[in-house]
Amino acid sequence: MNSVRHKLPALLLAGLAAAPLALSAAGCKREDMHNQARHEWQEASEFFADGMAARPQVEGTVATTSLLSNDPLLTTRNPNGGYADAYPFEVNRGVLERGRQRFDIYCSMCHGQTGYGDGMIVRRGFVRPPSFHIDRLKAAPPGYFVEVITHGFGAMYSYNDRVSPEDRWKIAAYVKTLQLSQGVEVASLTAEDRQQVEAAANSNARRSQTQAVTQPEREGLPKGARP
Ligand code: HEC
Repeated sequence: MNSVRHKLPALLLAGLAAAPLALSAAGCKREDMHNQARHEWQEASEFFADGMAARPQVEGTVATTSLLSNDPLLTTRNPNGGYADAYPFEVNRGVLERGRQRFDIYCSMCHGQTGYGDGMIVRRGFVRPPSFHIDRLKAAPPGYFVEVITHGFGAMYSYNDRVSPEDRWKIAAYVKTLQLSQGVEVASLTAEDRQQVEAAANSNARRSQTQAVTQPEREGLPKGARP
């Protein structure tokens, strides 16, 4: 850089014709910094045993930018531009269980385990997301949920570096199941399912009675203390 600066007054005296010269001198200096020994994309290398300069991706790597691929796992839209309504694989119990597990890990702290938007982080002050049980989101196809997980939505950031494309569909399938689960008439269930629902309702009722007893103590805690 110094040599360029020292040359400049002389060049300026030499008149306008020298201006392009000064620019090209600065350009060369810049290149010194940028032109470093490196391997080009897909180049051969004697350094690695497999003869390739590019290193294989670490197992489990998740793509964070859109891929130049028509992989159905990454296709959230129909050819007509609407959100995909079909899943890229068969949805069975295993898929839903994986979806529930991933949902509980990555979504429930904000959206709540049943999807009403009342997760712990929201109770502690984060923006409240809409309930998954409003008509607009009940009507939203699975492709919409996969797209929101991939790209984020408003205050919600993207999960594309944490949730693999396959798991995004599994979470979407689980959210659709959660939505269905909320409007079911108990009378329409089999006797066995009805028993399970009633047992769960009873244990919830018992739990909220215990909470009612401990609540005043919690409120007595000093400000900022963790209940
Ligand atoms: C840190 C909290 C947080 C987490 C974790 C989170 N979300 Fe969200 N989500 C939000 C908030 C807040 C909004 C509303 C954003 C807005 O309107 O600006 C939202 C919006 C959404 C919407 C769009 C709702 C609409 O109005 O169309 C969907 C769908 C959604 N989230 C699904 C998910 C799924 C699935 C996961 C788990 C992979 C997840 N979210 C994880 C906070 C979160």
